[in-house]
Amino acid sequence: MDIEKIRNDFKILDKGVIYLDSAATSLTPDCVVNAVIGYYNDYNANIERGVYSFSQEASKEYEEAHQKVAHFLGASEEEIVFTKNCTYGINLVANALKFKKGDNIVTTLLEHHSNYLPWLRLRDRYGVEVKRIKPSKEGFFNLKDFKEAIDSNTKIVAVTHVSNCLGTIIPVFEISEIAHKNNALFLVDGAQSAPHFSINLKELGCDFFSCSGHKMLGPTGTGVLYIKKELWDKIEPFEIGGGMIKSVDIDDFTTADGWEKFEAGTPNIAGGIGLGAAVEYLNKIDMKNIEEYERKLTIKMMEGMKKIKNLIILGPDDPEKRTGVIPFKVPNMSPHEIAFVLDEVANIAIRSGLHCCHPLHNSVLNEPDGTARASLYFYNSEEEVDIFIQTLKEVM
Ligand SMILES: Cc1ncc(COP(=O)(O)O)c(C=O)c1O
Repeated sequence: MDIEKIRNDFKILDKGVIYLDSAATSLTPDCVVNAVIGYYNDYNANIERGVYSFSQEASKEYEEAHQKVAHFLGASEEEIVFTKNCTYGINLVANALKFKKGDNIVTTLLEHHSNYLPWLRLRDRYGVEVKRIKPSKEGFFNLKDFKEAIDSNTKIVAVTHVSNCLGTIIPVFEISEIAHKNNALFLVDGAQSAPHFSINLKELGCDFFSCSGHKMLGPTGTGVLYIKKELWDKIEPFEIGGGMIKSVDIDDFTTADGWEKFEAGTPNIAGGIGLGAAVEYLNKIDMKNIEEYERKLTIKMMEGMKKIKNLIILGPDDPEKRTGVIPFKVPNMSPHEIAFVLDEVANIAIRSGLHCCHPLHNSVLNEPDGTARASLYFYNSEEEVDIFIQTLKEVM
């Protein structure tokens, strides 16, 4: 991988920022920006409605973007719904399922609020039980806890693939086997996995997979929800209206067959086309190369941080079991102070606080102020890691 060449594809890097907050949202390469501008400048029109050439071209580009994302995730085109973000995809599933008294939902205390609050609301709405599996402080689970919690009344099991707070990679396939043995549905929150390693949804064992387009080089306002083909007819869209129907009469309607069923109204056309360009770019670099390079950077960053006296790194020590999301603490400095100072003295952007995981910080980590969090992506260089370590040493 030619990092210098890759970095030239990201115009914003000319500003000299050391961007270590890709777990929140990634930077956007020129090809994605150009795809968005290209739509507005060259063929701006609504899709699936007009017979004129601009509308035909916009429809074709938007449909092709679904195909590219489907190929990227190892799914088929009709299984891929474009959403506005990862949160929306999870809410779509939570609002589409039907529950009866006695049902339960299994999730964990590692989850981002986006994969936690939609399930809690179902508890309040339908009286279903929400069982929450507790991870260790490193973010690991004991599979036995899932075996005990999941039973014949479990409707859905919803688990993150990678922790956005600790970087821990969760063995979701093993959990899917337990869920399916009990005839429960299985949802994976892939917000922190899809950008960083190769995903094959046919092999992952999930029924639903939601991720953020904007964390994998796509424009903001983009996300992806995978719904397994076999479930397509059983899931009701919770938004209905234009664009998602096959036919409508005065009293009734039938829904479209493919992803249109779940994309009511005019979608984010430019964003979807931009997301198509993003996964094409990732494919060109190859997710295997990205994963390998990010692991090397993660090891370098962790080794450098470990040499700084009194600095505490959270999450797994084994680089094979984590991604480049690295939370840390500095004694006598709040996470926000650390982030503020790094920005002030060296133009380094990191995240600080509770990372939308209040239950994890309060009930598992016992860190009510949260952590400072550096998160890497493949456009980060070894030199940037060196500057980060050196600056952190000086700050301390
Ligand atoms: C694990 C995880 N799930 C869900 C989300 C929510 O993603 P979005 O902001 O795209 O809805 C995030 C965002 O940080 C995340 O890290």
